[in-house]
Amino acid sequence: MFLKNVFSASSLLLVLFFPSLIIAQSKINPYQYTIQKKIECTNGAVVSAHPLASKVGANILKEGGNALDAAIATQLALAVVYPAAGNIGGGGFMIARLANGKNLALDFREKAPAKSTRDMYLDAKGNAQTDLSQNGTLSSGVPGTIAGLFEELKYAKLPFKKLIQPAIDLAEKGFTISAGEANDLNENQDFFKKYNTLTPIFVKATPWKAGDTLIQKDLAKTLMLIRDNGANGFYEGETADLIIGEMKRSNGIINYDDLKNYKAIEREAVVFNYKMDYTIITMPLPASGGVLLPQMMKMIEDQPLSTYGFESVNAVHLMTEVERLSYADRAKYLGDRDFFKVPVKFLTSTSYVFERMKLYDPSKAGNSKDIGSGNVPAEHEETTHLDVYDKYGNAVSITTTLNGGYGSGTVIGKAGFLINNEMDDFSVKPGVPNMYGAVGGEANSIAPGKRMLSSMTPTIVLKNNKPYLVVGTPGGTTITTSVFQTLVDIIDFDMSAEDAVNKPKFHHQWLPDEIFVEKDFPMSVRTELEKMGYKITEREQIGRTEVIKIVNGKITAVGDKRGDDTAEGY
Ligand code: GLY
Repeated sequence: MFLKNVFSASSLLLVLFFPSLIIAQSKINPYQYTIQKKIECTNGAVVSAHPLASKVGANILKEGGNALDAAIATQLALAVVYPAAGNIGGGGFMIARLANGKNLALDFREKAPAKSTRDMYLDAKGNAQTDLSQNGTLSSGVPGTIAGLFEELKYAKLPFKKLIQPAIDLAEKGFTISAGEANDLNENQDFFKKYNTLTPIFVKATPWKAGDTLIQKDLAKTLMLIRDNGANGFYEGETADLIIGEMKRSNGIINYDDLKNYKAIEREAVVFNYKMDYTIITMPLPASGGVLLPQMMKMIEDQPLSTYGFESVNAVHLMTEVERLSYADRAKYLGDRDFFKVPVKFLTSTSYVFERMKLYDPSKAGNSKDIGSGNVPAEHEETTHLDVYDKYGNAVSITTTLNGGYGSGTVIGKAGFLINNEMDDFSVKPGVPNMYGAVGGEANSIAPGKRMLSSMTPTIVLKNNKPYLVVGTPGGTTITTSVFQTLVDIIDFDMSAEDAVNKPKFHHQWLPDEIFVEKDFPMSVRTELEKMGYKITEREQIGRTEVIKIVNGKITAVGDKRGDDTAEGY
């Protein structure tokens, strides 16, 4: 376990002089806290992108809540303490395995507004204007997070008021920000100034620094409206008025009916077996992981990966080619099944997957120009992930997003929350890359009410039918490959959860035809891969993976080293 103190003496002084600011109900000190990367415990654990959010969730577990209660409280706290991605103005997906054996797959993905059109981001000459699909309120889909929270609540035990109160306190009384958050806020000052009609709280005359207190009174008020009125406190009344007011000031197109009509959808989880002992439960479309993860896992199932070894040239080559094959299909076939017929059964069938693997040559790099999608008959990226496991045996895996860091950049005036720029996850024009470099076609074109294709892949693995791994990550198109690698690292390479989370990751997505690697990816392997014909490109970081592993009642929760991610439990 490694602990890191992040906060300055000034935050400590603040607590000494204003002890009443400590969130009494949850015994959390928002002005002095530590990042904890790993915890081993037996009762329950939470791992998320921010220490305060993980603490809020763990306290709910200690106070008798189940994993769903803790997940709701953690998500709401993230919306306050991690504004770049935690949200009430975005959307996401939840996979849960309940103690009674029921699987849940909840889709609270954003939707295209009723006034959206297929070519809304093309200029008169037909050129894609990705500045419009990526920034400001025209890039926003109808938010789904709050509708999702109230669907989750159906499986929770505690009153919603108790679950949302820590988030309200954190917004109203403030919390000290980390060095990472200060840096991100400073880097985005021009973005906020450009895409807001009313100056948001994130804009500051002098640079933000670690230990500064961030107070969000408008957000606290919005959260109180949700506490007192349920989902209507967001989709109707005062908050809806503020959202529509912002749309009018900034040329957005979300209207009152879009908000009122938004529904989260409970879908059937994707469930498949891997090797003898493992059952993998993941999210179906519009989350692409529901097709790509079974494809990739089936493609490697019979290959001698464990003999190759972790990050050996052979293993990286095989996994890269598998990623290439799957992402080629993603570009052509995947989209919202409520709008486009996606041949899911065929794409994930063993016979199709085996046929595709005939294109894999163990001796040399594939080429995306030659390897297209199979023949089927007739994101600066910001998303965030959290895992929870409780003493009753419930497991929850939630990935949620604003899309880019701080979403569209627009804070809904006087409501205090950032709204997403998720419309860029549609294919704004066939062949034109989105902010993650991913291309798409008709399957993922814009249509009113349609959900944009996502890479989010919240996943739970059962071993011998019992919860074994709870996994997920942010990272745009790298999400699915990071989940794939994490599962392979733990299951095939017998790696610890800590190593699987923190060792360098790599990613291939068909186009562009290159392997992205993290800076600490071994140079010798890079050199060998280049000799095989691969182009290698370094990337600052790939994902921020969270893992909970449960073995014989012992829970190990690990937060990624790549951020302020923290594991809590008891
Ligand atoms: N916005 C990132 C994703 O949904 O894939």
